Amino acid sequence: MTGPWKLVGVLMLALVSVSIMSAAPAATPQSQANALGAAATAPGDLKAVTFTKDVQPIFQRACVQCHRPGSAAPMPLLTYEEARPWARSIKDRIVKRQMPPWHLDRSIGEYLDDPSLSDDEIATIARWVDAGSPRGNPADAPPPVNLATLGEWVYGEPDLIVEMKKGFQLPAEGPDMYPSELVDPGITEDRYVKWVQIIPTAYCCVHHSHVYVTIPDDAEREGLGLSMGSNLEREVDLIEYAMGNDADIYPDGVAKKIPKGALFRFAPHYHPWGKDIHDRERVGIKFYPKGVVPKLVVTSHRLRTGVGNDWVLNRTRVEDLLLRKGYPLDLDEPRLPVGNLLDENTGNNAALLSIPPNTVARHERFYPMPQPGMIISFQPHMHFRGKRMLLEAIHRDGRREVLTDVPNYEQSWQITYTYKEPHLFPAGTILHVVSWHDNTANNPHNPDPSAWVGYGPRTMDEMGHGWTDIAWLTEEQYQQALAQRAKKRLTTTTSSGQR
Ligand code: HEC
Repeated sequence: MTGPWKLVGVLMLALVSVSIMSAAPAATPQSQANALGAAATAPGDLKAVTFTKDVQPIFQRACVQCHRPGSAAPMPLLTYEEARPWARSIKDRIVKRQMPPWHLDRSIGEYLDDPSLSDDEIATIARWVDAGSPRGNPADAPPPVNLATLGEWVYGEPDLIVEMKKGFQLPAEGPDMYPSELVDPGITEDRYVKWVQIIPTAYCCVHHSHVYVTIPDDAEREGLGLSMGSNLEREVDLIEYAMGNDADIYPDGVAKKIPKGALFRFAPHYHPWGKDIHDRERVGIKFYPKGVVPKLVVTSHRLRTGVGNDWVLNRTRVEDLLLRKGYPLDLDEPRLPVGNLLDENTGNNAALLSIPPNTVARHERFYPMPQPGMIISFQPHMHFRGKRMLLEAIHRDGRREVLTDVPNYEQSWQITYTYKEPHLFPAGTILHVVSWHDNTANNPHNPDPSAWVGYGPRTMDEMGHGWTDIAWLTEEQYQQALAQRAKKRLTTTTSSGQR
């Protein structure tokens, strides 16, 4: 999920915490005032904030994975010389929490590779800028970032690289384009994906891009809701690229499956942006070793918000649609009959957005989990009017638990928020996704607050997708996973108790 910050994050975390601790002055009233960014630092003050001592470690952890040469970010921030001219803009962006891009409510949940800044870090950078952005003593600087760790493939060398055959030529101007290209990756036996990454070449103009795995006719469609990732029944989502989101890694024992004979379908969404440019995307995959069959298979679920796409509320209508399409329905079955079919095919008709002019519109979706599952990540996907999206679990006892709230959604970023510890829920837990689209003039991205907006593929249309990666479990696996967690908690509590 996440972008290229992974490795740096791991390597730099230690450094950052050490240097922050050593730089932290005792909590005098003076330093507290400074921490709030209020008092200017007196000249000659030994505690003055400097680039080398205080700011560079933060940039190394939270910025340079993007702000480095050859990436989509407008300027590198590796050195003092590179950072200095951007000081005011940096303060502006970090104080508004626009940089680093991380749009969720930080008080809820813990996530992998969280680059967001603490209040203290923001205050430190703001003080540095207010003090005239001093360089400081070069000897204070942390070791330079190893640019090799910021290489193309963030998790190491892939086993397989599959590239678009020709790619696509994009004009400087014109309507959005949604081409698609099938490529045979040459998979001759079932393989399981440990990590996967996608790299485009036209960073300017790829709004987002999916790679789907088409399931050959003779392969079994394993996994629930398998088709929920795409518009075709026999496809699963392998990976999505969007700014800030280009790689997925799965916990040990968990994988995406690619059946033998599968084809890859590259499905980019291009938004011409003033440049004649060619895009040729590559996807890199690290597999579990041959013969290793991970216990859990992950599938990506697109929980679409809409008016009246809730099975429970619209059962008759959806059932009628399905029956007319020829699905053999058991009308006495109390639970979702064919969750996957319901979602991607006939059910699409019932999954509509209605966003009136000058309105903030709310839509929602309830998805009762048909079997136990691990919720691995959440990625909101909306367009220009997208304002906020929330994922919550409604437990069987009625208790509601917000898993992720993204109140500052930005459509240019499609960030996947990966849970540090995946949520583990029993069958019957309802996943509830709520989206808010701001179609008023208050929304600076809104091209036309007087337009009625509905569901559609163009950037001008809207979507309300809560993409959720889920590893489905059998009841037995669920009980095992629960027991394992209880044991882990017990060990952690005991050992911290001994300290
Ligand atoms: C995930 C990648 C990513 C991370 C992490 C990131 N940035 Fe950015 N940054 C970008 C991109 C892409 C842009 C250009 C698009 C935009 O302005 O939003 C940008 C824009 C900016 C700008 C505006 C430049 C201008 O044109 O005025 C500033 C300032 C900035 N970033 C500072 C930072 C700082 C400081 C950090 C770390 C604390 C950081 N960024 C972390 C990708 C990133």
